[in-house]
Amino acid sequence: MTDTLQRGSARWEDRVKVWDPVVRVFHWSLVTVFAVAYFTGDEAETVHEWAGYAALALIALRLVWGVIGTRHARFTDFVPRPTELKNYARQVLRGRERRYMGHNPAAAIMILFLLLATTVIGVSGWLLTTDWGWSSELLEDLHEGAVNITLLAIALHVGAAIYESIHHRENLIRSMFTGYKRAGK
Ligand code: HEM
Ligand code: HEM
Repeated sequence: MTDTLQRGSARWEDRVKVWDPVVRVFHWSLVTVFAVAYFTGDEAETVHEWAGYAALALIALRLVWGVIGTRHARFTDFVPRPTELKNYARQVLRGRERRYMGHNPAAAIMILFLLLATTVIGVSGWLLTTDWGWSSELLEDLHEGAVNITLLAIALHVGAAIYESIHHRENLIRSMFTGYKRAGK
């Protein structure tokens, strides 16, 4: 599915549609509601809780889309087998990792982690509002601990996206907005 842009310029390369609109809207919506929930953790209870529930709803939608969505949105397209992940890690250490059109194996593991960790944050937050859980310090620690671990993971996630962008001479962050990536190797 390659469409060549014919504008008479060598700078217009072949490009491939990789991320469908569901993936793109999901990603930037999740970033937005995560940030809103994070910055309202201390006050604005209603906004905080609804942003958190919105994160859970987005994740539920993404899990379904991971089964029925377009090619690179599917978990079967990017969740790696252990040997594939090991090989990729070796390639990264040698600075010679291959380029993937969809998510690379390391990105895939990070993505699964972010989805899981955000779910833990959302569910523990909800439990903190119930009769059963409101006084539990354990839940409070889980909620806030999971937030802090997720922040670290996000820093790594963004750092890796920048690193891979430089390494493969393409702007992966822009691709998450436009849906397109450079064709070829
Ligand atoms: C401004 C900060 C962020 C930037 C620049 C960013 C960038 C990206 C990029 C470039 C990708 C595609 C990676 C690839 O090409 O394989 C991606 C995927 C993803 N990111 Fe982020 N990200 C950010 C924040 C977050 C946050 C806060 C979360 C979750 C809490 C998150 C969760 C995800 C997920 C789940 C995917 C997979 C998308 C999908 O397949 O649906 N990201 N991100
Ligand atoms: C992505 C989702 C979420 C993020 C990033 C997040 C973040 C945070 C943060 C940073 C705090 C700590 C505030 C502080 O003590 O300084 C907090 C506390 C809290 N959050 Fe969330 N939260 C999320 C989802 C939710 C949800 C879905 C609910 C409930 C429906 C919720 C309910 C609470 C409650 C009740 C507290 C106060 C706990 C306490 O007394 O320490 N959160 N959250």
